[in-house]
Amino acid sequence: MKVLVTDPIHEDGIKKLEEFADVEVATGLDQESLLEKVPDFGAMIVRSATKVGKDLLDAGGNLKLIVRAGVGLDNIDLDTAKERNIKVVNTPEAPTTAVAELTISLMLAWARKIPKADKAMKEGKWIKSQLVGTELKDKTLGIIGTGRIGREVARRAKALGMNLLGYDVEKSDEFKEMGGEYVGLEELLQNSDYVTLHVPLIPPTRHMISEEELNLMKSTAVLVNAARGPIVDEEALIKALKNEKIAGACIDVCEHDPPEESPLTQLDNVILTPHLGASTREAQRTAGVLAAEKIRENLK
Ligand SMILES: NC(=O)c1ccc[n+]([C@@H]2O[C@H](COP(=O)([O-])OP(=O)(O)OC[C@H]3O[C@@H](n4cnc5c(N)ncnc54)[C@H](O)[C@@H]3O)[C@@H](O)[C@H]2O)c1
Repeated sequence: MKVLVTDPIHEDGIKKLEEFADVEVATGLDQESLLEKVPDFGAMIVRSATKVGKDLLDAGGNLKLIVRAGVGLDNIDLDTAKERNIKVVNTPEAPTTAVAELTISLMLAWARKIPKADKAMKEGKWIKSQLVGTELKDKTLGIIGTGRIGREVARRAKALGMNLLGYDVEKSDEFKEMGGEYVGLEELLQNSDYVTLHVPLIPPTRHMISEEELNLMKSTAVLVNAARGPIVDEEALIKALKNEKIAGACIDVCEHDPPEESPLTQLDNVILTPHLGASTREAQRTAGVLAAEKIRENLK
């Protein structure tokens, strides 16, 4: 079996592939070179950079399998792949711990004003009295989407002494066993000190958090989004933050990444990170190794 790897994946993933396949790593190819190369291969591993459009799928006469090392499949023409009987799989398990840890980090950074403290210290200002924080213990965390990431956030929040509310179209026993209570979206928004989003971006979740939902939140509450930018109506969020309808927001994903001109970058009550959710060495290694395992499993 010949496997073509067109975007960088962790070396442990390559080693695993080499145990059972003939592997060629060819990253950064232009489209023309890629079209020339692909007919020789039965399987491909890509991340987000390679655009697997109709032209590439048409050229890949021997292709049976495409593995996306990571989550999003928006760089792959899934309809054409289906027509050509080419299986497409991804590794959605890889970033779970990384995103859960980032979510908790953002809440702690907010509660203890770490970004403000760091900035002040580097400006030579000792503003200790302005940096009195709050504790997460005994606060209520509302988790919207109690799937893989939502449940890992719940587990960590529980260890910090937080109370857990959940909202999901599917109820998880594991979440309930952790002491999590499922409620309606409205009740979750009204009663949470932190609201964190872990649903996928699909038509029903686009702008799931808009003006109406933000108005239901406590004025002391904080919204955390390390899922996908368009789940939140950014214009409504900016308005709610400016009018102090909610206390703050921790945002890893904006409606348009990078946010460049967005007023979010100018607000003091916002902590921003540049889509760092899955950016850990461990998650990248896991994505590479799982991609190799998916090739082995699916080619059996
Ligand atoms: N910041 C990052 O870098 C990063 C990295 C990885 C994943 N993510 C995001 O995190 C999301 C969650 O990942 P996961 O692995 O936990 O996915 P998952 O599929 O395990 O969980 C998603 C949960 O959302 C629920 N859900 C779906 N539609 C819903 C709706 N309309 N209302 C309420 N609940 C709904 C599902 O039932 C499921 O329990 C991903 O879809 C992705 O957008 C972000």
